Amino acid sequence: MKQNRLLISVILGLLVAGGVWWMFQQENETIRSLAEDHSLLFGTAIRYQPFSEDPEYLSLIKNEYNAVTIENELKMEIMMPEEGVYDFKQADEMIQFATENELSIRGHTLVWERVPWWLENGNYSNEEITSLLKQYVQTTVERYKGKLYAWDVVNEAFDADGNLKDNFWLRHIGPDYIALAFQWAREADPDVLLFYNDYENDVWSPKTEATLSYLTSLRDSGVPIDGIGLQMHLDLANDFDPEELQDVMNMIGQAGFLVHITELDIKLQHSGEDIETKKKKQADRYADIMGVCLENVKCDTYTVWGAADPYSWIRFTDEASADQADPLLFDHELKRKPAYHMIKEVMK
Ligand code: XIL
Repeated sequence: MKQNRLLISVILGLLVAGGVWWMFQQENETIRSLAEDHSLLFGTAIRYQPFSEDPEYLSLIKNEYNAVTIENELKMEIMMPEEGVYDFKQADEMIQFATENELSIRGHTLVWERVPWWLENGNYSNEEITSLLKQYVQTTVERYKGKLYAWDVVNEAFDADGNLKDNFWLRHIGPDYIALAFQWAREADPDVLLFYNDYENDVWSPKTEATLSYLTSLRDSGVPIDGIGLQMHLDLANDFDPEELQDVMNMIGQAGFLVHITELDIKLQHSGEDIETKKKKQADRYADIMGVCLENVKCDTYTVWGAADPYSWIRFTDEASADQADPLLFDHELKRKPAYHMIKEVMK
């Protein structure tokens, strides 16, 4: 009798311990580990500051993500503070950290409308500007050859009507700047994936249509373009339809391009609901987008634009509403938010 009771107690004890262990495993399971099962890059943008001064930020990145995008430090305005002067220090350190921690690395971005002050205000001929851009693209791509999985070569070149934006490069080099940039990048690294990256291409619009047809004809004439990056800076005030995203991704895929989610964030503001409802909506939207990406064979990269709410770029660009934005997957204590848990559910 006594022995039976002892046996039952031991079995119950083991069951409880097993249950606790199981719950602990579930709680600690990361999207990073699930992403590896799906051959998915689950990335975050990283910035030199806080990178250089906040160990908690570094732990969060290496524990929770398996890919990073260099948020600013490879942009021309930071890398080339003066003509002919390259400052690789910050990018080098970040790339070294990522390599040591087995994080895949995305370079961002070689050609953008924002150019260094000295260039914009300098007195350069169009030929000099073309050769400066060529030198910058080739020097940068060459330096990190073999270390990055992808480069956002050209960023935000089209306007909402689908015309080429009137930017510095168009004015000085003409529309060929796009094709040239991809060709120069390919000459410098034959293996890295080369992307065109932009916002508002996650819904079908004149811009999406024009971009896709422009890039398709460049690619068909031999310009090395591997894929299209969808930035996706979203906000709960706008409706979102996963089927529409699915359709756009299919169109891009059918045109023969890879399609990566490159800068996802979802701001909470602009709705009268209470904070918990908003967080739940944010979570559902993050999860829906992950669901669409997992279903599309051309989508193997899901990158959020910042590791946690205190580091979001929105805090700097939209200060007035920053405190209500909280657009990312980890909160101000670097704890997982409902959005993180919902993504995990979808991935299981
Ligand atoms: C933003 C960075 O996040 C900010 O830190 C910086 O001050 C400005 O640029 N689309 C892009 C990114 O392609 O390069 C931008 O990054 C955000 C919008």
